[in-house]
Amino acid sequence: MYRDRIRLPSLMSKIMSAADAAALIEDGMTVGMSGFTRAGEAKAVPHALAERARLHPLKISLMTGASLGNDLDKQLTESGVLSRRMPFQVDSTLRKAINDGSVMFIDQHLSDTVEQLRNRQIKAVDLAVIECVAITDEGHLVLSTSVGNSASFAILAKQVIVEINLAQPLELEGLHDIYIPSYRPTRLPIPVLKADSRIGSTAVKIDPAKIVGIVISNQPDSNSTILPPDDETQAIANHLVEFFKKEVREDRLTNQLMPLQAGIGTIANAVMHGLLDSPFHDMTMYSEVLQDSTFDLFDAGKLSFASGSSMTLSAAKHDEVFADFGRYKSRLVLRPQEISNHPEVIRRLGIIGINTALEFDLYGNVNSTHVCGTRMMNGIGGSGDFARNAHLAIFVTKSIAKGGAISSVVPMVSHVDHTEHDVDILVTEQGLADLRGLAPRERARVIIDNCVHPDYREALNAYFTAACAKGGHTPHVLRDALSWHFNLEETGQMLPR
Ligand code: COA
Repeated sequence: MYRDRIRLPSLMSKIMSAADAAALIEDGMTVGMSGFTRAGEAKAVPHALAERARLHPLKISLMTGASLGNDLDKQLTESGVLSRRMPFQVDSTLRKAINDGSVMFIDQHLSDTVEQLRNRQIKAVDLAVIECVAITDEGHLVLSTSVGNSASFAILAKQVIVEINLAQPLELEGLHDIYIPSYRPTRLPIPVLKADSRIGSTAVKIDPAKIVGIVISNQPDSNSTILPPDDETQAIANHLVEFFKKEVREDRLTNQLMPLQAGIGTIANAVMHGLLDSPFHDMTMYSEVLQDSTFDLFDAGKLSFASGSSMTLSAAKHDEVFADFGRYKSRLVLRPQEISNHPEVIRRLGIIGINTALEFDLYGNVNSTHVCGTRMMNGIGGSGDFARNAHLAIFVTKSIAKGGAISSVVPMVSHVDHTEHDVDILVTEQGLADLRGLAPRERARVIIDNCVHPDYREALNAYFTAACAKGGHTPHVLRDALSWHFNLEETGQMLPR
């Protein structure tokens, strides 16, 4: 049994139930689990841990690559297991616990977590729980649909529990490129020279003696929940395609563009879909999460290679892709998130980074995380890794939210994730603002004229006029700068309608 999946015979004796494996997790431990954008997370052990904690309460600090699927963050929150959580999440139950202060959430650039672990700047991982498709005959780990932080968790942890997930196809073997940077300050350059560079091994090299348990699971990843493109996301995509065409006409880009990164969520996926109907070809992606749009672009002959850290697909796209995975495999690679998001590589390759804002302000500061400056949505994820270092840092959002009660373009953002210094292009369904080379007052003009919803344009113009009357390099009327957010909290809408 499982000989094709567990190829080092001495490890067969480590097979145990999920409940027994969960019992190895002790109160107060820091646990590193696989999982990135709802792909490749350990499934059976966290579920068993949540069950156990309902009877015998315990608390852990949980680190992952990014978000977990299969409602695991919800289960772990409801059973009171989580004392600390990092570096990203998307679960509404956990979000509530973060916002009421019962779970301490460390919202972190995704490239940074394992750097801090490796350098002992944060508490060490006691135990890693990693989903794999196989263990090689040397005892090395073949990961599944995400790499995320799994490789470093397994390498740095004292003990490792492996979940062999039979629902994840063995064909995934060979897809991963595991490269771990050496220690600073004598680190060598990371030799990713193109999106398709392979610089590491296909399995995570660990001492098999660290494997304290192997759990056999058989549960698929959760499917992505993104919505199909709508008129507004299509309009955003159209504005971007027109912008790229202009860049080509003016000789700043070729029809191949530059390697593309697209953030999580409905809008970013829709924007990538927009490239299907464009003159661009032989494009590459150097991104974090590969969504449905990546495979649609392959099928349309538009994309030649995609590098990511995970694959998160809808149910229909998952079945289609894995019915004939061989068609795509040679054009894909999954990397550790510190490599997919590494500032050095992003600068070198000249990435076009397309991420989503909750809101942005007159001067180009972007808030991607905090509603009304206080309530965490998901986290910064990799958007900062990319925006800060990109060839073109692009942020997209619909110009209004919640039926028009909220303007996504505001006088001053209520929280800053991406400063005006890191943002090149802003796009809403209304239009595109190219901020490159502009001073703050010029930026405000371009943003108001191109991105603001008509219902808010007059009010934003009035704010800007009043701010300019007071003067300053970046004019503001401090008393009014956050008044739209204040109104929203008080009345449920930013401006009376
Ligand atoms: N204020 C309050 N809520 C807002 C808002 C604003 N200014 N703008 C949007 N929202 C709400 C929407 O109404 C929607 O709410 P709902 O889920 O109740 O319907 C929700 O935020 C998501 O917005 P949507 O327009 O559907 O966009 P999305 O699914 O593309 O997500 C982000 C947008 C910003 C939440 C998401 O992209 C994110 O978490 N980004 C940060 C991480 C990141 O960029 N990672 C990229 C590298 S992986």
